[in-house]
Amino acid sequence: MKARIAVHRDFKIATIDNRIYGAFLEHLGRAVYGGIYEPGHATADKDGFRGDVLELVRGLNAPVVRYPGGNFVSNYDWLDGIGPKDQRPVRLDYAWKTSETNEVGTDEFIRWCKKAGTEPMLAVNLGSKGFTEALAMLEYCNHPGGSYWSDLRKKNGSKDPHNVKVWCLGNEMDGPWQMNHRTGYEYGRIANEVGRGMKVFDPTLELVACGSSHANMPTYPDWEAEVLGECYDNVDYISLHTYWDNWDDDYLNFVAKSVLLDRYIHTVGGIIDYVKAKKRSKHDVYISFDEWNVWYHSRKQGVSDGEGVNWAKAPSLLEDVYNFEDVLLVGCALNTFIRRSDRVRVACIAQLVNVIAPIMTETGGPAWKQTIYYPYYYASLYGRGDALNVAVDVPAYDAKVADDVPYLDVSAVQSPDGKSVAFFIVNRHPDEAMTIDIDMAGFAPKAIAEHITIANPDLKAVNTARKQAVAPQAGKGVSLRDGAVKGKLAPRSYHVLRVSV
Ligand code: AHR
Repeated sequence: MKARIAVHRDFKIATIDNRIYGAFLEHLGRAVYGGIYEPGHATADKDGFRGDVLELVRGLNAPVVRYPGGNFVSNYDWLDGIGPKDQRPVRLDYAWKTSETNEVGTDEFIRWCKKAGTEPMLAVNLGSKGFTEALAMLEYCNHPGGSYWSDLRKKNGSKDPHNVKVWCLGNEMDGPWQMNHRTGYEYGRIANEVGRGMKVFDPTLELVACGSSHANMPTYPDWEAEVLGECYDNVDYISLHTYWDNWDDDYLNFVAKSVLLDRYIHTVGGIIDYVKAKKRSKHDVYISFDEWNVWYHSRKQGVSDGEGVNWAKAPSLLEDVYNFEDVLLVGCALNTFIRRSDRVRVACIAQLVNVIAPIMTETGGPAWKQTIYYPYYYASLYGRGDALNVAVDVPAYDAKVADDVPYLDVSAVQSPDGKSVAFFIVNRHPDEAMTIDIDMAGFAPKAIAEHITIANPDLKAVNTARKQAVAPQAGKGVSLRDGAVKGKLAPRSYHVLRVSV
């Protein structure tokens, strides 16, 4: 099978906001306790943070990490997580039916972010709490000093303000599973008032209103129109979430699901434009796609996601073990965020450690990379700069979820120094190699600087703490001929092709 690909130096989509390579960390299962934090672990530092996990997180270079939830946040009292640790209460977490010891709270998370080389993106509780608590938390975090809340932060050991820029106004408030779930109108009103208050404190804050939990919610897409109708001018992003599964073990249908992601972004982009026009507003709102990933393996393996947990402390929950096929869909999803970087300014893989995550740990043992660590790593490493418009002429197929799904999924990014272009390519075809011919008009390509590939004959191959069965290798069979990039890509394979220009 053949594919013709074309980019042009002058046809750019947008300068990518690096925060599309963000991640999410929730007080859920072993994400925090046994994940980032495990005092007594051989690699733990004086604050109890695992050094081996920090090293893998730093490797991903995630520009932003969203915290503390997730469903967890809708019944979380941030005050429980500050001050002397021995005085912090143990609380029941109604979202995941676990016990929360509060050993890690806001100040510890900010400290961890500094060590991890990332920025915090904090969510306030707009379920069981509201305006007063959100503003108190903001003041605690960001006011330099001389007020009750800022002085309390200083007393708790953080002399300098945390200066948290991005704040989520609750989580998935469209979901009936949320503690104190609300209608679109009710939530939009609260988001507007809290947003307005937060912007009085600091108009440069970036605020994220809750959009839909997924595109099959009965309230989607009215929810976005209703919520933004109430709070448009006081927020900067509408948040979207989505998780994919392969319950029916249908490979071609599974890898087509990124097409739904594109459609979701497209539709919500249209709603943003509609509300903006209706309000005659000059203000722009973007998408924060702050939860996305494959999530079903742990359910399939019979590991519960909250049921039967019986208020245990940090039990193993949602510990999906990812396979090679997931690499292909995650690669296509990252391509989608690059191609829609005109709309999406923040995106967080959900989650970061142990819970539906690229990084896993054994309690008391090693930390290791799941299969999906790799496409995320490469997108974060080489997917910074200008997203280019890519024209792909390739045969397509009809899947259950969508028609006309191209066998090849491609995104292209010109590096900030302008000296190279990275192509991220997934060959979805189950059994045919793809002959590619990339025309790079206006670029004068000099050489193939790097070709990395991930392929495996077994779609279900997984990594473990001891064996990296799915890992990147040097690619073969692509070269520069007659000023074009030509070669052959194996069926069911992921590629990063860097061309120096
Ligand atoms: O990431 C797991 C859960 O998925 C989050 O807590 C919630 O926001 C979503 O439903």
